[in-house]
Amino acid sequence: MTGTTLVRLRGVTRDYREGGRSRPVLASLDAEFVRGEYAAVVGRSGCGKSTLLNLISGIDRPDAGCIEIAGQLITGTSERERTLFRRRQIGFVYQFFNLIPTLTVLENVSLPLALNGEDAGSTQATALRMLAEVGLADRADSFPDVLSGGEQQRVAVARALVHRPCLILADEPTGNLDADSGGQVVSMLTRLVREAGAALILVTHSEQLAARADRILHMAQGRLHSARWSESRSGFLDRRGSIDRDSGALE
Ligand SMILES: Nc1ncnc2c1ncn2[C@@H]1O[C@H](COP(=O)(O)OP(=O)(O)O)[C@@H](O)[C@H]1O
Ligand SMILES: [Mg+2]
Repeated sequence: MTGTTLVRLRGVTRDYREGGRSRPVLASLDAEFVRGEYAAVVGRSGCGKSTLLNLISGIDRPDAGCIEIAGQLITGTSERERTLFRRRQIGFVYQFFNLIPTLTVLENVSLPLALNGEDAGSTQATALRMLAEVGLADRADSFPDVLSGGEQQRVAVARALVHRPCLILADEPTGNLDADSGGQVVSMLTRLVREAGAALILVTHSEQLAARADRILHMAQGRLHSARWSESRSGFLDRRGSIDRDSGALE
């Protein structure tokens, strides 16, 4: 299955209206993501990267265009159907971890399975196995606030993958971590995503993390463009050789 199209976006357009004025964020964006790939999305702050992830996950809807994931046209479904689809097929990793503070580490990781209606016994065993994968089985009964930022993000990685989604969306997952723990979190995330044969779309400002991706996509003028990191010019270069230094700033 690796290498076949998982996500297809066609003509995806999103405007935000503010005080009667319309501000275009995504402008007829086309993109494809394949199973098994790690694609890094870079671009300056405010260019629409989070908006794109929210549209792919079905949290938000485009004003025009269509989005297909695993053969399902999610732009043609109801909010309820999109929620169910998201719970089963998508895993998220956020910049601020978004763990539930009143639940233990194990309960946080179990949550996606519980929401999908799996029975409590198998849920706990599966969540514990996933915690072991991120090296935190011994912290199962801790609450998130006693963990370091890097550890909390590893719990979030376990939670994102525990229900074996086909697509992982990570929005600046290292934005709140030091370089060492950020690198460790992304190594773990990419290894587990590859083992699962899922696709990873990761938004980052870090050139080191983007450089490890199978593809770098640079967002500008509401669209995605193939890009590569240029050491000599300290920025991401698009196909035409234009540079965006801002998006290369370290997180
Ligand atoms: N709910 C909203 N209402 C109005 N404008 C928004 C909303 N969400 C995002 N925006 C605007 O859309 C643009 C893109 O935002 P975002 O996708 O968060 O950018 P990025 O993640 O690349 O920093 C920004 O100008 C932001 O201010
Ligand atoms: Mg953002």
